[in-house]
Amino acid sequence: MSQDDLKKAAAEAALVHVRDGMRLGLGTGSTARPFVDAVGRLVAEGLNVVCVPTSEATAEQARGLNIPLSTLDETPHLDVTVDGADELDSQLRLIKGGGGALLREKIVASASAEMVVIADSSKRVDMLGAFALPIEVVQFGAQVTAGKVVGILNELSLRPDVRQRQGASGPFITDGGNFIYDCHLEQLPNPEELALALQAQTGVVEHGLFIGLAARAYVASAEGVEELVA
Ligand code: 5RP
Repeated sequence: MSQDDLKKAAAEAALVHVRDGMRLGLGTGSTARPFVDAVGRLVAEGLNVVCVPTSEATAEQARGLNIPLSTLDETPHLDVTVDGADELDSQLRLIKGGGGALLREKIVASASAEMVVIADSSKRVDMLGAFALPIEVVQFGAQVTAGKVVGILNELSLRPDVRQRQGASGPFITDGGNFIYDCHLEQLPNPEELALALQAQTGVVEHGLFIGLAARAYVASAEGVEELVA
């Protein structure tokens, strides 16, 4: 099975959470994409849902599939959000933001009664941190804020290598108009401690640690799709 097949298998498994009349959050990335395709297929067959996308890219995909879209301001309480992850551990703590949509993803997941993660088994880790942690920072004074982030990481003995994310023609800009700094940490033994410290830093808009948000995950491997519950 290819990795794309595994992503699709995880996405299809999450469809069990989709029912008529629901308000859904649609995730972002190459695993969320087949889930959005599947919702589009069900909508074409008559499913009645309203969806809030977590990025402009997902919104564009959903519009192309005639999925009814709403904003979080119009639809503030969602039933389920289904989204991918860059890493997940056994407690369903996540690193997200590899696709740069972490801020909207976290806002949408926080507005949902349940967040369901879909992933192939390469995303499953014993300890978070091998995937570089994305931190979204406002453009004004970004280098100063990035320096403060390095200070926080040093303080927690994390020995960081922090790099500003680049796009095709200059710094990567998020849907919210901010920069992203990717923090290469290798190991993150205490994600809660880091999450609290980053949340308190002025200039940091959001970080890619999703803790206490995911209730369930579908993780696909060659052996099948495993369901994990937090
Ligand atoms: C985007 C995300 C994605 O969910 C994460 O990067 C996983 O992406 P993919 O499914 O393409 O591996 O957080 O901001």
